[in-house]
Amino acid sequence: MLICQITDLHIKAARRRAYGVVDTAAMLEACVAAIAALAPRPDVVVATGDLVDYGRDDEYALLRELLAPLHMPLYLLPGNHDGRDALRRAFPDHPWLRQHDEFVQYAIDEYPVRLVAIDTQVPGHGRGELCARRLDWLEHTLAARADAPTVVLMHHPPFRTGIAHMDLIGLAGADELARVIARHPQVERLLCGHLHRSIHARFGGTVASVCPSPAHQIALDLTPGARDDFVLEPPGYQLHQWDGMRLVTHTAVLGDWGPRHPFRQSGRLID
Ligand SMILES: [Fe+2]
Ligand SMILES: [Fe+2]
Repeated sequence: MLICQITDLHIKAARRRAYGVVDTAAMLEACVAAIAALAPRPDVVVATGDLVDYGRDDEYALLRELLAPLHMPLYLLPGNHDGRDALRRAFPDHPWLRQHDEFVQYAIDEYPVRLVAIDTQVPGHGRGELCARRLDWLEHTLAARADAPTVVLMHHPPFRTGIAHMDLIGLAGADELARVIARHPQVERLLCGHLHRSIHARFGGTVASVCPSPAHQIALDLTPGARDDFVLEPPGYQLHQWDGMRLVTHTAVLGDWGPRHPFRQSGRLID
C-alpha cells in the first residue's frame, strides 16, 4: 500500500498569496499534478491539516477545485487554520468527516494499513490539544483492531521540535497520547503536519513524523528565541510505502531539477 501525504496547503480565497508572498494555490496545483502523474499510483492521499488559511467556505471551495485532479481516495483532517463545519460542508461526499459528532476524527478500515485520524484543533488558537474525550475515542478505536497495522494522522506533532515559536503552539496532551500509543504496538507511525518541514522523533514506542508543505516551509532555526519566519525552500510531500512489514517513508521534492541521468551506458558505469 502506498500512502501519499500532503499537508499545510494554506489555500486562500481568490488565490490570494499567503503573507503577501506565497502563491499557495499555484504551488498546490504543481503538487497535485506531480502526484496525479506518479507511477505506481498512490492508493490514498492523506492531507494532515491547515488545508486552508482561515477556515472559510470560499477557501474550501477553491481547495476542492485544486484537489479535483487527484483520482484516488482523499482523507482530510483539520489543523489550527481550518474550520470543522466549513470543511464538512465543502466535502459532503466524505462521510467519514462526520464519524464523530464533535471532532473531525475517524477510522478507515478498507486498506492493508488502517488509517486513524485524530483532531488536535482548538478553535481560535494556533496550539493543539488532545482532551480526555478525544483520547478515549482513540484508545477504543485502536483497541477495536489490535491486529491491524495502523497509521495515526494528526496535525500538531506530539513532541517538541526545537523550533521555539512553533513549540509555543505545540500539542497539549502529548504525554497522555504517548501512553495510549504505547499500549497499541500496531501503530506503525504518527503522520503529522504543522511544522512545514520533514522532522522525525521516537514517540510512544513508535515514530512520529512531520511532512513538508507543498508551499512555504518554517525556517530551520534552533536558537532559543527563533523568530517566526518562513522560507521558500524546495517544497514537497511524502510517500509512505507499506511492504507488509514496515512503513518506509520517502520525501519527494517539488520543482524542475532537470532530467534523470543514467549511471551506466551499454551496461558499464560511465567513467
Ligand atoms: Fe501550517
Ligand atoms: Fe498548523
